[in-house]
Amino acid sequence: MAKRTIVSLPGDGIGRVVLEETIRVLGAAGFDAEYVEGDIGWEFWCNEGNPLPERTLKLLETHKIGLFGAITSKPKDDAAAELSPELQGKGFVYSSPIVGLRQHFNLDICARPCKTYKGNPLNFIRRGKDNTIEEPEVDVVIFRQNTEGLYGGVEWTNPNDEVYNGLMTHPKFVKNFRNVPREELSVSTRIFSKKATQRILRAAFEHAKKYGYKSVTLCEKPNVIRETSGMMFKMAKEIQKAEYPDIELWNTNIDAQMMWLTKNPENYGVIVAGNMFGDIVSDGFAGLIGGLGFACSANMGEEIAVFEPTHGSAPKYANYPVSIVNPIAMVASACMMLDFINENEIAKKIRKAIAEIVEEGKVRTYDMMKMTGNPDVIEKGAASTQQMADAIIAKL
Ligand code: NAI
Ligand code: MG
Repeated sequence: MAKRTIVSLPGDGIGRVVLEETIRVLGAAGFDAEYVEGDIGWEFWCNEGNPLPERTLKLLETHKIGLFGAITSKPKDDAAAELSPELQGKGFVYSSPIVGLRQHFNLDICARPCKTYKGNPLNFIRRGKDNTIEEPEVDVVIFRQNTEGLYGGVEWTNPNDEVYNGLMTHPKFVKNFRNVPREELSVSTRIFSKKATQRILRAAFEHAKKYGYKSVTLCEKPNVIRETSGMMFKMAKEIQKAEYPDIELWNTNIDAQMMWLTKNPENYGVIVAGNMFGDIVSDGFAGLIGGLGFACSANMGEEIAVFEPTHGSAPKYANYPVSIVNPIAMVASACMMLDFINENEIAKKIRKAIAEIVEEGKVRTYDMMKMTGNPDVIEKGAASTQQMADAIIAKL
């Protein structure tokens, strides 16, 4: 196979160390690639007023595949205060570079697999009949629409005339908000387009078909959010009927789904949802399989894709003399990248190595030992980030 070029986007905080260790694992597993580093994150905000420089976008445009660590985001005022003095007051406004990447390249399909590793002490357990302890095996993949809906950014406080007058054409607005002073109104929209909705639904069904899941569950709220959730449900039924008659379509409401989450998580296969509900339900399932040290994800567009762990930059752990964070979420995200570029055998090998390490239980990072994150966890027997990567490599 020709040598691949991957854009590595370490970002900041623990993003840097988990990505470095992941690249080491990829090499040891036989993935032959060249890495070009893309600048992204806090440093570039502070020094250039842009956490996602144009040159980074160019790199991704050229090479198509990105492997992303994590970035630090801070609220508006804090961000402005940390801008380097010569850039202050020049109108730079901070916005999250990962959200920026998703929007810029239209990475509209987000996949977040949540699969139980046998022997993980962080696995969810529940009480069964006669006081027995059950450890349900979770194997769920959440498909989350990544660019529209509540995270689409179309929102106003104190809306202008055009927006306000538009809202006043809706009878429910007139009935419920007519008497609210305009400057006391905040409006965030939830816009779904047919094309993007179709794409996320098809991606979910396609994944179910390819990997043998028996059901796709739409997790929205069509009985209340009638237009957007309603459209998605209607389209899901049409697509299922016409293209995937062998896969069952289930429909759950997001609130009920969060309750079913701990009652019967083993019953679900592929789940599909809009942006916000997909975010919520995927964090919920991630909690059942070990949390942030294990949660991986892919952001995929028609041409470009970026793979990243769900966790952030965890700044308080970033400058430990020996890094303590769990690299598995990042390594598992890299496995999703390998699947995406049809290096399935290498992905399989790495996943098997992780599964063996977790099941053996000899090498565990602090989170797996239920410790509070502190530099002294290493003395207390927790594996460092490097040691976990070494253990995976040794299994390969
Ligand atoms: P976080 O995910 O960085 O960390 C929360 C806590 O989770 C940590 O304190 C740690 O206890 C645990 N944790 C995270 N990753 C872990 C790992 N690999 N192994 C073991 N434990 C791990 O979220 P937080 O603290 O809310 O945000 C920190 C910064 O990261 C913020 O600036 C936030 O905006 C940013 N962020 C960036 C994301 C991204 O790059 N996609 C996503 C989420 C947050
Ligand atoms: Mg989230």
